[in-house]
Amino acid sequence: MKAHLTRRYRFSSSHRLHSAEMSDEENVRTYGKCNNPHGHGHNYTLEVTVSGPVDPATGMVCNLVDLDGFVEREVLSRFHLENLNTLQEFAQLVPTTENLSIEIFEILQRGFHQAHLETVRLEETMMNSFEYAGTAEPRK
Ligand code: NI
Repeated sequence: MKAHLTRRYRFSSSHRLHSAEMSDEENVRTYGKCNNPHGHGHNYTLEVTVSGPVDPATGMVCNLVDLDGFVEREVLSRFHLENLNTLQEFAQLVPTTENLSIEIFEILQRGFHQAHLETVRLEETMMNSFEYAGTAEPRK
């Protein structure tokens, strides 16, 4: 008996979309105003979906206190009120919300083992969201 659990979190970060592999002109063509040198911020909504059997003793897929604690410690405290471009994770990687979703998925996959990780969904604005469900093989 498998069930899914989705939990929502919020955090805010700033970023500038700029690739060191492209010229300044190509960066502007590719990222438009998101290439602005001063960066800009987003209030992200993160949804983490896990699945597993419902524990007959607790009636739960996983302990929410543990999931919240892990996400708070390993994800929110790492990214909230940070300039993503200055973080080691994004030293070689453009901090698009696609790449941020993948980073968050991999943090959860490495460290949270109480339930099966299904997806990470990240809402950047009312109009955009990104979802990542992992690959069979680790990415790097
Ligand atoms: Ni942006």
